[in-house]
Amino acid sequence: MILHHSESDIVSVSRARQISGTVRVPGDKSITHRAILLGMLAEGRTTVEGWLDAADCRSSIAIAKLLGAQIEVEPDVLHIDGCGGQVTEPSDVLDCGNSGTTMRLFLGAIAGRVPYAVFTGDPSLRSRPMRRVVQPLSAMGASIHQRSNGCAPITVTRSDLESMTYRLPVASAQVKSAILLAGLSTQTGHTVVVEPILTRDHTERLLDGFQAKVNIYEENCERHIAVRGGQTLQGTSVHVPGDVSSAAFLLVAAAIVPGSDLTIVGVGLNETRTGALSVLQRMGADIQLKNVREIAGERIGDIRVRSSSLSGTNIEAEEIPSLVDEIPILSVAAAAAHGTTTVRGAQELRVKETDRITAIVHGLQQLGVDALEQPDGLIIHGNGMIGGGRVDSYHDHRIAMSFAVAALIARHSVEIAHWSAVDISFPTFSTLLKAVADPE
Ligand code: S3P
Repeated sequence: MILHHSESDIVSVSRARQISGTVRVPGDKSITHRAILLGMLAEGRTTVEGWLDAADCRSSIAIAKLLGAQIEVEPDVLHIDGCGGQVTEPSDVLDCGNSGTTMRLFLGAIAGRVPYAVFTGDPSLRSRPMRRVVQPLSAMGASIHQRSNGCAPITVTRSDLESMTYRLPVASAQVKSAILLAGLSTQTGHTVVVEPILTRDHTERLLDGFQAKVNIYEENCERHIAVRGGQTLQGTSVHVPGDVSSAAFLLVAAAIVPGSDLTIVGVGLNETRTGALSVLQRMGADIQLKNVREIAGERIGDIRVRSSSLSGTNIEAEEIPSLVDEIPILSVAAAAAHGTTTVRGAQELRVKETDRITAIVHGLQQLGVDALEQPDGLIIHGNGMIGGGRVDSYHDHRIAMSFAVAALIARHSVEIAHWSAVDISFPTFSTLLKAVADPE
């Protein structure tokens, strides 16, 4: 396997003989963002061990500092001195870069606290839908303005928020979190988010660690999450597990390259995030979990995967939130498998860092795979064969890494344009892949 980086941000990746060894992947992106944000809001000191040092989380750090947190950045630990809920008016625009989580969560957290702030981001983020948070926050009384197309830049001016009950119209952990965080800044009452389909619950778990009262209950088969307004968070120590969404690239690599045997240690196994593991097992992947334990409110463990022959499967709407970021890499597994794989109810993929349905289908077609776009998903007729050629990441980290994994079994080398997008979530991806892949 050669991973060759050119001046023009194109890498060329070729076949691997096998993937083997024991590795650790970088920290969980969702948990790192939340730990930074809650550490900023809290009273006292928060330490974040194992944080993800990648562009998205650096955006959250820069914003938390502009809002009044003191943050000392060390390679494996962040030390955050929070502002005890009294955020300061930022002296510059809040640039969220490529990070939708940063924009949506900070918007909810500060809408009822900050005198004036402007949120912006890179071209991708400035084309992503923000009404999904602006509309419910406005219903709570927030004073927020966005562009007429519902996108950033967004301005916020201070207003007092009122608690409310909100049923999520899209299964989105970002929207859920934004409303819960806004609920904390209300003076009285409980803010309740109702979610018909379970989405990642790191915010709820971390709030508990920061000593906020969160009440979770089922009613009419729907999960209700309630927070009381006016609570002050207390600084704490957060342990960030390895990101299962990053691990997924290496897992699929080892599942599809014959003769592989790879172990990834210390991976977050929160059940709202492990849908891809279940799907891969259903496809026939040989995956074992070991040393499963709970650390700081999150399930964590080691994952061993050995290559095996895979078959196609159907991925339905209810499963999507638990694997929403893994559909690009699962599509590569589907191309390497025998038989048809369908993904339905995944229209959210069209509003991620890029339109991931188009990006993955188009790229797979370039590599000679029988892949078809659907309005809410895709269909892949896999026959284990992937050709070579040129694909584009469309500046999307997960698309770039998915095609690098496809290249490991491709007949000819694969060139991936706009490779540096991987720095968004997994800057050490190339180094790790080289460490575990034996070149052919
Ligand atoms: C995230 C939630 C997901 C996911 C994103 C991170 C989070 O988005 O795609 O990468 O940290 O809350 P949605 O919940 O909006 O689908």
